[in-house]
Amino acid sequence: MPTMCYGLYVQLYSLTRLLPNQQGFQGYHLDILSFQYNFQHFKSNLLLMQRPIRTRFDTLSLHAGQRPDPVHGARAVPIYQTTSYVFKDSDHAASLFNMERPGHAYSRLSNPTTAVLEERIAALEEGIGGIATSSGQASLHLAIATIMGSNSHIVSSSAIYGGSHNLLEYTLPRFGIETTFVSPRDIDGIRKAIRPNTQLIFGETIGNPGNDIMNIPVVAEIAHEHKIPLMIDSTFTTPYLMKPFEHGANLIMHSATKFLCGHGTVIGGVLVDHGRFDWESSGKFETLSEPYSGFHEMTFDEEMSQGGFLIRARREGMRDFGACMAPTVAFYILQGIETLSLRMQRHIENTRKVIEFLQSSDQVEEISYPELPEHPDYELAKTLLPRGAGSIFSFSLKGGRKAGQAFTEGLEIFSHLANVGDAKSLIIHPASTTHHRMSKEDLEKAGITEGTIRLSVGLEDIGDLTEDLSKGLYLAEKAARN
Ligand SMILES: Cc1ncc(COP(=O)(O)O)c(C=O)c1O
Repeated sequence: MPTMCYGLYVQLYSLTRLLPNQQGFQGYHLDILSFQYNFQHFKSNLLLMQRPIRTRFDTLSLHAGQRPDPVHGARAVPIYQTTSYVFKDSDHAASLFNMERPGHAYSRLSNPTTAVLEERIAALEEGIGGIATSSGQASLHLAIATIMGSNSHIVSSSAIYGGSHNLLEYTLPRFGIETTFVSPRDIDGIRKAIRPNTQLIFGETIGNPGNDIMNIPVVAEIAHEHKIPLMIDSTFTTPYLMKPFEHGANLIMHSATKFLCGHGTVIGGVLVDHGRFDWESSGKFETLSEPYSGFHEMTFDEEMSQGGFLIRARREGMRDFGACMAPTVAFYILQGIETLSLRMQRHIENTRKVIEFLQSSDQVEEISYPELPEHPDYELAKTLLPRGAGSIFSFSLKGGRKAGQAFTEGLEIFSHLANVGDAKSLIIHPASTTHHRMSKEDLEKAGITEGTIRLSVGLEDIGDLTEDLSKGLYLAEKAARN
């Protein structure tokens, strides 16, 4: 019975997001202050559950996971800048640590501010819950460490962020987890790469940096035929441009550092579970279907019909690896999410105009953006990304390394740095920065030319952006001539 109480909490935690409360449409945030309130309202919630009202994306971006602070009435999400939470007495403490009652004990495991972010992103993705982590990298690691151990295998898209590639290719094999990389366009190759010990298929909605698009519905079908979950890194799209759960994915991770935060201020990650993968019947996931001696011999999948993955990730992964998100970081990301759809619309609008401008220049050789008919994923983008194919793309400048460098250094509004998904426009010239040691031939093998430029188009006035780019093109031409 005591642990059932937590099961109930998880169910409530996920279901109430979709329910109205007596003030309107806000989801509930079941933190330690509001739990009692919500518990008392459980019966009426059950009634409401019979006629759930689904609030819409823009409303959820502003409200999901929070109601005004019941103590002081603060409308903004309070930053609970605390490591720990005062126990009422020893029994209360023991029951919190034993997961016999909901609430917060120590901020490495959970924190009320971070919990609002977790619930908000879960609501936007239409998952059952989420866990915020210290970075995007930490959320990828958390997902893998929660379900895999030595002698496990992952099939991953080869078109993924370099940091994720490093983790899978070089670091995890030291812990007995191997990865086979396959182009996301090679569907047959993905199928063939699956082994008896494969426990995850992984890819990005839009690959960083190549803009390859994974055919998620088809890959999800392959994964499910083999009783394997599909995890998608949705960093470049955010739930505004695509909801991978609608296409069959089982887990989603984000580098919240990028568009979710949107202002280049904090590093963070989120992991979201759809709650539909049947870990037990798959027979491949002992961490969820066998008793865990590290936590009261709990069998996580039995304990909760849907939330087993998240509970194990929190109770083991956050406890033991400790890559938690600070509450102030969660606050910044929540602020960003409040304007996510407006920002994404403007990102897309500006990106299309910047591309149109570059297309008119005879110094630009090749633009790689999935909305252009010559892009190999053009048709797929139309189906999976009807709202737009993101705001990050690359193009090649005539004049090679010298031109690329002059162009990048000559811009004033585009900031020269290694990040994407900021409100401000960003630029990088791989051949003179991240890939500067590589020869022309090696660059070509990596799909980059000496003149490749990557832009992350921000929210500035489009006239200013194109003027800045004009200046860069002039300088690039001059450099190429000398
Ligand atoms: C697609 C993608 N996934 C994951 C990450 C890692 O995120 P973080 O830097 O927050 O650890 C990045 C970082 O650039 C990324 O672009």
